[in-house]
Amino acid sequence: MSDEKFVLAIDQGTTSSRAIVFNHSGQIVSTGQMEHEQIFPRAGWVEHDPKEIWTNVREVVGLALTRANITHRDIAAVGITNQRETAVVWDKTTGEPVYNAIVWQDTRTDKIVAELGADGGAEKYKKQVGLPLATYFSGPKVKWILDNVDGAREKAEAGDLLFGNTDTWVLWNMTGGASGGVHVTDVTNASRTMLMNLDTLSWNADIAADMGIPMSMLPEIRSSSEVYGHGREGGMVPGVPIAGILGDQQAATFGQACFEVGMAKNTYGTGNFMLINTGTTPVPSENGLLTTVAYKIGDAPAVYALEGSIAVTGSLVQWLRDNLGIISSAPEVEELAKTVEDNGGAYFVPAFSGLFAPYWKSDARGALVGLTRYVNKGHIARAALEATAFQTREVLDAMNADSGVDLTELKVDGGMIANETLMQFQADILGVPVVRPQVAETTALGAAYAAGIAVGYWSGEQDVIDNWAEDKRWEPTMDAAERERTYRLWKKAVTRTFDWVD
Ligand code: G3P
Repeated sequence: MSDEKFVLAIDQGTTSSRAIVFNHSGQIVSTGQMEHEQIFPRAGWVEHDPKEIWTNVREVVGLALTRANITHRDIAAVGITNQRETAVVWDKTTGEPVYNAIVWQDTRTDKIVAELGADGGAEKYKKQVGLPLATYFSGPKVKWILDNVDGAREKAEAGDLLFGNTDTWVLWNMTGGASGGVHVTDVTNASRTMLMNLDTLSWNADIAADMGIPMSMLPEIRSSSEVYGHGREGGMVPGVPIAGILGDQQAATFGQACFEVGMAKNTYGTGNFMLINTGTTPVPSENGLLTTVAYKIGDAPAVYALEGSIAVTGSLVQWLRDNLGIISSAPEVEELAKTVEDNGGAYFVPAFSGLFAPYWKSDARGALVGLTRYVNKGHIARAALEATAFQTREVLDAMNADSGVDLTELKVDGGMIANETLMQFQADILGVPVVRPQVAETTALGAAYAAGIAVGYWSGEQDVIDNWAEDKRWEPTMDAAERERTYRLWKKAVTRTFDWVD
């Protein structure tokens, strides 16, 4: 029996939950993964079943430990990372959710958001919380649940209901649930609720009151790296410290070692999320980006980021698979796209959840434009991939404008970076190199590092830097005039999605 210890990361994502065991070099030892159901009760609504998520988390942890041939005794700490903003409200006595989780992509709160902004507009709370009023964030989702679920508001006011993003839901259940679970979140997740003051890192009682959310529902806000609690007896990791929490995009920023001001990463998941480190002072955006917390390690000051969030990238590929049936698996999109030379004039703007950065238009809806009889499914596949790259260019332009400094390369991670055609096109459209690390699972890795640092398994950020290694780099090859021509057409296509909802 070896004395080697490991760190376990739980990545509770939008489409699946994963557990990954890492060793001290930051290498993956084993993985467990399960998808959960995407529930679409109406157009624009997206839900998850929190109980299915919790069952899957337990399952994937078991799988990862078994595949690594280890037990909880070999785990030094557990880190949690998660889809952000997705809101769960549950009864603290029974542990039962009062409603399905309302997912970050869900647009049902557009009226709530419009009402909240009636006096003060979309920027009403931006100075305090760094975010525009939009359906994306948790606060309006919680208000919707309290307004629409029978008896929920009374129970919430009596102090019987708890709110959390999925980090909090998983942590509460792992540490004992109704018989003593800890009700905690970290600063990065709290910064996505519209309810946390960015400068004090505490809840804003006035905004909570505007949204009719009792403060007793809100979890305690803690740093991203400290011991929050221990796995409950009889659970999957009894007695093991749970010591790191970061929203998934912030976790990837940490795992990509973006520790210096100006360092940025872009994650290609269900959506795309680019974050640039702006240091220990929050920087307001003039160009449609969010100001958010990147991480806070224990008692050290919080580090902030500007973020460009894109709602639909990888999920557009899923849509081609599940709704159009033109591919039977996600990786096939690359083969289909390679059957054609270019997009054939087609541009696909996937404004399925409205448009996020840099537009923030909840009433936009998707459009496929530039169609002629020449266009075939290969062109549509290509246009879908290009949409990811074009949206990323828009965010990068906003970052360059906000920071006044042009990024010279972009670190990437996430599932879609296996797609070489996309990565080359991305470098071409940005005009800067795109760099892939050896460990592409930077989200889980970031959460593992946060947990491992809290318990002394890793000494600090230098270990993260030392373990980071480049795998591949794509250099731009597209001629500049062609780049600007196709990007101009993309921008024109985007305008066709505006003001769609009645
Ligand atoms: O803000 C939403 C984001 O955290 C979701 O990430 O990777 O689950 O699509 P992902």
